[in-house]
Amino acid sequence: MAEIIGGVGTSHVPAIGAAIDHGKCHEPYWQPVFSGMQAARDWIAKTRPDVCIIVYNDHASCFDLRLTPTFALGVGEKFAPHDEGYGPRPVPEVQGVPELAWHIAESLIAQNFDLTLVSEMSVDHGLTVPLSILYDQPSVWPCKVIPLCVNVIQHPLPTAARCHALGKALRVAIESYASGLKVVVIGTGGLSHQLQGERAGLINAAYDQRWLDLFIHEPERVAEIGVAEMLRETGSEGVEAIMWMVMRGCLDARVKTLHRFYHVPVSNTAYGLVVLENE
Ligand code: DHB
Ligand code: FE
Repeated sequence: MAEIIGGVGTSHVPAIGAAIDHGKCHEPYWQPVFSGMQAARDWIAKTRPDVCIIVYNDHASCFDLRLTPTFALGVGEKFAPHDEGYGPRPVPEVQGVPELAWHIAESLIAQNFDLTLVSEMSVDHGLTVPLSILYDQPSVWPCKVIPLCVNVIQHPLPTAARCHALGKALRVAIESYASGLKVVVIGTGGLSHQLQGERAGLINAAYDQRWLDLFIHEPERVAEIGVAEMLRETGSEGVEAIMWMVMRGCLDARVKTLHRFYHVPVSNTAYGLVVLENE
């Protein structure tokens, strides 16, 4: 059976990708950020998952207001990095796993999650920056990837509770796949940040730290937090953190925290990173 060997939560700040792409990781501004990531890089190098399921949002790159799927699963063979205005990032193409992705689609839809299935899509920083955070700059990504795109852009958004329930169903789907693949689930986005408007630059570190405590130890309480509270406390883009709840739903109620790192500011946002395993 396929096995979930752990979960990673990480912000997907594009400036981190730019720092890697332009060789700035050792500059004084970036050095503490990259040293805070090292334990996650060591963990992924040691555990070597075959597949990463990356729960991310598209930022009006591939999807725009003409088409807003609440949950979209990438079932294609490959996914090209999207050009976000500066040319596509110089990172390898992302290789999919259609057989597992279709199995997950069948299982989730049978469990009443009516996903949008996408054979052809490009992936933006929401997905490629977490890969760079974990794997740095390989010529080929060491894992295959199943993109699971969540709408956190155009309201109405799914709730944190729905994301958590989706994670629980995703675990059932993965663990019913008859092949010994090792899978890591990565929740991306957050933590507090707001990129526009009067509150641009908002960072609420106290809220983020409390949210992380609950996320790790009492996820059912995070599932009760409404989108309005997330917007108020963590900013218009801080609400991306609900995507971490899909990852959390894939793990047991009690988990071991292998790594937890929080750093502000990164660009004008909060950066959070956790690596969790079942106890
Ligand atoms: C930025 C963009 C994001 O999508 C995000 O999650 C954090 C920061 C940015 O443009 O700085
Ligand atoms: Fe984002």
